Amino acid sequence: MRIIQISDTHLSPTHGFFAANLAATARWLAADDPALIVHTGDLSMDGAGTAEELAAAAKWSGCFAPLVLSVPGNHDVGDHAAIKPTQTVDDSRLAAWRTAVGPDRWSLDRGGWRLVGLNAMLLGTGHAEEDAQFAWLEATLNTALPVALFLHKPLFIEDPAEGPHGYWTVTPEPRRRLMSLMAGANVRLVASGHLHVHRQFRHGDIDYVWGPAASFVCGDSQPDLGGARSLGAVEHVFGPDSVTSRFIRPEGLEDLTIEPVQHILYPRPAEKVQ
Ligand SMILES: [Fe+2]
Ligand SMILES: [Fe+2]
Repeated sequence: MRIIQISDTHLSPTHGFFAANLAATARWLAADDPALIVHTGDLSMDGAGTAEELAAAAKWSGCFAPLVLSVPGNHDVGDHAAIKPTQTVDDSRLAAWRTAVGPDRWSLDRGGWRLVGLNAMLLGTGHAEEDAQFAWLEATLNTALPVALFLHKPLFIEDPAEGPHGYWTVTPEPRRRLMSLMAGANVRLVASGHLHVHRQFRHGDIDYVWGPAASFVCGDSQPDLGGARSLGAVEHVFGPDSVTSRFIRPEGLEDLTIEPVQHILYPRPAEKVQ
């Protein structure tokens, strides 16, 4: 079984700063013709602000494979209040995701593996859906199949026991809760997005893959997290009980940084006065 992971496309109908990179990714996907794509979130630039933008982004990524499974990012459904007080995860944003994209958590058995998508943006929010997702995950991980987990934010940077990394990772308490469930299951791959960095490493029996963005990389606004600030995608080839993950660089990508246009895009003007 072969899966293409794309991430952080940040499609926007209101500007074209990264349109050439999305076009390059689209040309490559059309030629590659994968059977299954997993999008690890931030489909949109501001889907958390407007449902129309989220719908446009979902339509774009849904064109390139018979099956496209997506998990929400902070730009799609918001974040927890300590990180993004003006765009918190709430019922209306979750409903907008489910209408435009589909379920925000999912499980699919294919090729002898259980593929599991999580809504990382619920973690640490205290929203009722957070506990519901944990209960669902505990049941979903109860399988003899090897499991591949997909979520937007990485669980940690270097060490599962490390402290908080603010905007960049799942916070320590839900991380501990999630990893205690993983410890009792046969999880072999955790693939994430969000950092706009490609990196692969193993911790314990689990391969961790940070999927690169398809839109832009971060410059000075991001601390050095390791890995490579390079646009691209990842091919995952699943064997009987292990997965081989390979960075792919579609032709025509340009590693544009966000900083020159960040004041226009994010935060939006209404947030600057706070
Ligand atoms: Fe992103
Ligand atoms: Fe993100």
